[in-house]
Amino acid sequence: IDQSINKSTIMAKEEITLSQPLQRNLDTFQNEFWVSKEKLHEIIDVFVQELKKGLHDNDDPYQIPMNPTWVMDYPDGSETGDYLALDLGGTNMRVVIVHLLGNHKFTKVQTKYRLPDHIRTTRKREELFGFMAECLGKFLKEQNPDGIPEGKTFPLGFTFSYPTTQSKIDSGVLQRWTKGFDIPGVEGNDAAALLRDEIEKREIPIKLVALICDTTGTLVASRYTDPDTIMGVIFGTGVNGAYYDVVADVPKIHNQLPDDISLATPMLINCEYGSFDNKHRVLPRTKYDVQIDQESPRPGQQAFEKMTAGYYLGEIIRKILLEGYETGYLFKDLAQDSEGAKKLAKDYILDSSFLSNLESDDTPDLAESKKEFETKLSINTTPEERLYAKKISAFIGTRAARLSICGISAVCQKMNYRKCHVAADGSVYMKYPHFPERAAKGLSDVFGWDGIKEEDHPIKIVKAQDGSGVGAAVIAALTHARNVKGLSLGLKQN
Ligand code: GLC
Repeated sequence: IDQSINKSTIMAKEEITLSQPLQRNLDTFQNEFWVSKEKLHEIIDVFVQELKKGLHDNDDPYQIPMNPTWVMDYPDGSETGDYLALDLGGTNMRVVIVHLLGNHKFTKVQTKYRLPDHIRTTRKREELFGFMAECLGKFLKEQNPDGIPEGKTFPLGFTFSYPTTQSKIDSGVLQRWTKGFDIPGVEGNDAAALLRDEIEKREIPIKLVALICDTTGTLVASRYTDPDTIMGVIFGTGVNGAYYDVVADVPKIHNQLPDDISLATPMLINCEYGSFDNKHRVLPRTKYDVQIDQESPRPGQQAFEKMTAGYYLGEIIRKILLEGYETGYLFKDLAQDSEGAKKLAKDYILDSSFLSNLESDDTPDLAESKKEFETKLSINTTPEERLYAKKISAFIGTRAARLSICGISAVCQKMNYRKCHVAADGSVYMKYPHFPERAAKGLSDVFGWDGIKEEDHPIKIVKAQDGSGVGAAVIAALTHARNVKGLSLGLKQN
């Protein structure tokens, strides 16, 4: 098998030698986590079929949702205006005021608010939506120290990055929570309406004009500045992509189309392809992936995301290290009732920064990793254990990168895109060492670009413009323009 990428991106530490059993064990993992060129092709073929199926009908809750977003215009960079954006992320929430200046330029002011720890799984939905409204109110006060002018209303783009069914641009019924969120009373309900209620309760002068996903925002924001952008993708806590299709290719909305939307109208689709292969036809799952799925709040959902997204990478390595400890080949001196043993047994105690930090440690005896094990797991490690963990991180990180590009390849194949930019955002893309190179190498394997330098690749993944803020603003501006022209922004109302 072709494992050149692993060899080139894992610095072997001459000073540290692995014992034979550990080396053998590592070889097994390397084989299990390596995704060959042939396998990538097999996955992409199934991916293209699933994308098409998702556009065709909504019959199956386990297929890729392919959600029409009712963004039906391409931004051309001339959009102007001041818009508020609220972005609910995995760990933070951001409120941004974006000033679109036209000429592909913008300025923005933003404030980050840390989400209270328990909010991911609070039992009260008002707590989440109330918190968002509170932050919006606080932000407006700070930005308008002399008071908000009488009668002024701020248009808001709400970035809610979960799968929603949109019958129009300013509503979105949550299909299911992803990324470990599990708050009752939101699935099956309109998230825009829930936020609107909390805004109204507090009499904040804001009008929610568009609900969008981070992928959609990433695409539109990047296209505002770079017209070669054809996709927006997120490699972060979750994994997903968005692109423009045409209405003709989205049969599932044909019977409720308003008269002013023709088959030739562009339609931005939020794929929600984190749920690719929920039927487990083609992805090479390991027993750790299977366990993660079964122990998650939504087993059977987000199969692709659970192997590739930042939210799960730390959990994959934790399971492998725990197994190593329990079977006696790692952390041999760690007492069973020790702090370290307890931490190692705790679900989701590690996030993807653990793997990132191990992978970027180039000190001779992996001293940075030693600290990492001590602070996050209270475990004293030998250099050999650290090298072992570093290599395991590289297998997990490389697999994630190679699998991640299957979504991009499938969309490019479906749309026949040969030369274009794909705008990427998310913590894994921005911070995980080697991720961009590994993803580019994956694309190169798929499209046969051997010998072509990365910067000359025809399909190039580029760092996105701040999608969730600027994208929400540009979409709010496009929505405003359609409203002015009296054009539809959703399905025909019965
Ligand atoms: C999850 C969400 C999706 C989002 C992605 C990245 O897959 O369901 O909406 O785009 O994470 O944040």
